[in-house]
Amino acid sequence: MTARILNGKELAETVRAEVKAGVSAFVALRGRAPGLDVVIVGEDPASVVYTRNKEKAALEVGMRGKLHKLAGDTTEVDLLALVAQLNADPHVDGILVQLPLPSHIDAEKVTRAIAPHKDVDGFHPTNAGLLAIGRADKALVPCTPRGCMKLIALSGVPLAGARAVIVGRSNIVGKPVAQLLLAQSATVTIAHSRTRDLPAVCREADVLVAAVGRPELVRGDWIKPGAVVIDVGINRVDDPQNPGKTRLVGDVAFAEASQHAGFITPVPGGVGPLTIACLLENTLLAARARVEI
Ligand code: GUN
Repeated sequence: MTARILNGKELAETVRAEVKAGVSAFVALRGRAPGLDVVIVGEDPASVVYTRNKEKAALEVGMRGKLHKLAGDTTEVDLLALVAQLNADPHVDGILVQLPLPSHIDAEKVTRAIAPHKDVDGFHPTNAGLLAIGRADKALVPCTPRGCMKLIALSGVPLAGARAVIVGRSNIVGKPVAQLLLAQSATVTIAHSRTRDLPAVCREADVLVAAVGRPELVRGDWIKPGAVVIDVGINRVDDPQNPGKTRLVGDVAFAEASQHAGFITPVPGGVGPLTIACLLENTLLAARARVEI
């Protein structure tokens, strides 16, 4: 069997086009564009690129986008003051504070300080709690898990009664993906570094989501024939074919897994592009919800 590729780049384009149309309608109705404010503290190179891309993506769909670049030695008090100012600003619909934060700042405290209805990352305990009690309709749901669900939907494989295994228990991906799959009536297992016989657990999965950040951990013979494989990992590794160069790989050994899976996401071009598209979607949802309140 050779798996069909779930093309995240193409799907993300569709989502962005839908958001763009939604933004135009919002502007026509409200006389202002939805606004996304992104905050970065320090100059971590990956975070600089991610935050720039988020601001750019917001502008491209017609939103107001602003990137707040704070020095690496910004105090927690000053960061919390900015968050409070953005919470109170009626032109701000979405607030995203890029993680990781420098070690002198308590990231959880900052996450809790963001108004839940502007928390477009979906990391605030109120949003996580709404998701956990089955009220995703009332919550802002984290972006990468939303992207995973869109890719699974693209496969067309029904989730009710299916066995789903998530490898990774992070608050950002593993736990929310598990909640979303459960809400669709899948039978869900969250596996992690202490799971016994991980290959055997994975072989049970009709839907396998790998989100551990371990390059090519999931091997081809861990995949149930015909399964949907969603690879959230983005790992930079040395490229043996090009000495001195690096390449991106996922948490799944793609070539091997493609021989067993029914559907699989590539890295890059799978889950990654959907994360920003879902961030834009969340910002539009937050703007609409704020108007309705
Ligand atoms: N750092 C890496 N991914 C993310 C994300 O989705 N949101 C935030 N706020 N920080 C991140």
